[in-house]
Amino acid sequence: MFIQNCWYVAAWDIEVPEEGMLARTLLNQPVLLYRDTQGKVVALENRCCHRGAPLHLGRKEGDCVRCMYHGLKFDPSGQCVEVPGQSQVPPKTRIRSYPVVERNRLVWIWMGNAETANPDDILDYFWHDSPQWRMKPGYIHYQANYQLIIDNLLDFSHLAWVHPTTLGTESAAELRPKIERDMNGNGTLTISRWYLDDEMPNLHKKVAQFNGKVDRWQIYQWSPPACLRMDAGSSPVGTGAPEGTRVPLALQFRHTSIQTPETENTSHYWFCQARNFELDDDSLTEKIYQSVVEAFEEDRTMIEAQQKILNLTPDRPFLPIAADAGLNQARWLIDRKLAHEADTENTN
Ligand code: FES
Ligand SMILES: [Fe+2]
Repeated sequence: MFIQNCWYVAAWDIEVPEEGMLARTLLNQPVLLYRDTQGKVVALENRCCHRGAPLHLGRKEGDCVRCMYHGLKFDPSGQCVEVPGQSQVPPKTRIRSYPVVERNRLVWIWMGNAETANPDDILDYFWHDSPQWRMKPGYIHYQANYQLIIDNLLDFSHLAWVHPTTLGTESAAELRPKIERDMNGNGTLTISRWYLDDEMPNLHKKVAQFNGKVDRWQIYQWSPPACLRMDAGSSPVGTGAPEGTRVPLALQFRHTSIQTPETENTSHYWFCQARNFELDDDSLTEKIYQSVVEAFEEDRTMIEAQQKILNLTPDRPFLPIAADAGLNQARWLIDRKLAHEADTENTN
């Protein structure tokens, strides 16, 4: 069961080509994404209402798409506008269309009740397209339920064990984060981790213009369904980072991690690591991107293997430890939203 009435990410902007089409399963539903003649993204059910053929095997005709099985043609609202060999097109000859918004280089989609979709609820990821920041967009496909990925992101103690040579330091396992919860809307968790007078992780060492101990931070906000926004960095020790000072030498990053369920046991994952220094150095952009990919492969190996084990006895409970505090709150916020949607459905 998935939350329906939320903005999900369907793609990076560059994944939806000017020509051609992108087929993607989101929340167990087949979705077709393409751009109309103005370049605006259209999202339609990727299932012809005639006999269920996928429309990504069809062809774009102007703003419309034609099913290449028996030729039905659909406009961007999902209405069929042509049935070959038939003079009338009954109004109910249509497929579903989904609200979409392209913002901060992401294509956001609303899979629930279209009347309740409010673009103002889309989270701000300004570092994707701000001239002050630079990033390379990334995507991973996961053979695991999206909540296992959220569990991983909400507990950074795993950095010490899963990422000892990339993102982690030994201190990550011992540190107790501060966790704050804001119940507005779907709820938001803010998790703050400060490592004072600590080592830099290798990812930071590779790009820093200074050596030695640092004060470093990971401050991230997480909101249902699966959106993480993080401020992270390292500053030479004692230069006032915890008090809010960011000296010019300090490394500053903004990180994006967003998941959308594909099916119960598979997920889409969009990520990037933006920086606000040496913006024109393309090789640095690539170096940071590759470092994150390397670290994220370490997560994927563990989480996909975990999913395989869980599949053997899906009803067996987990045993909680202190480090689960953040992920338990995230699961609680997701369950709360799911319960709210179930209640609303029952009263309608
Ligand atoms: S299945 Fe699409 S036109 Fe027949
Ligand atoms: Fe990780």
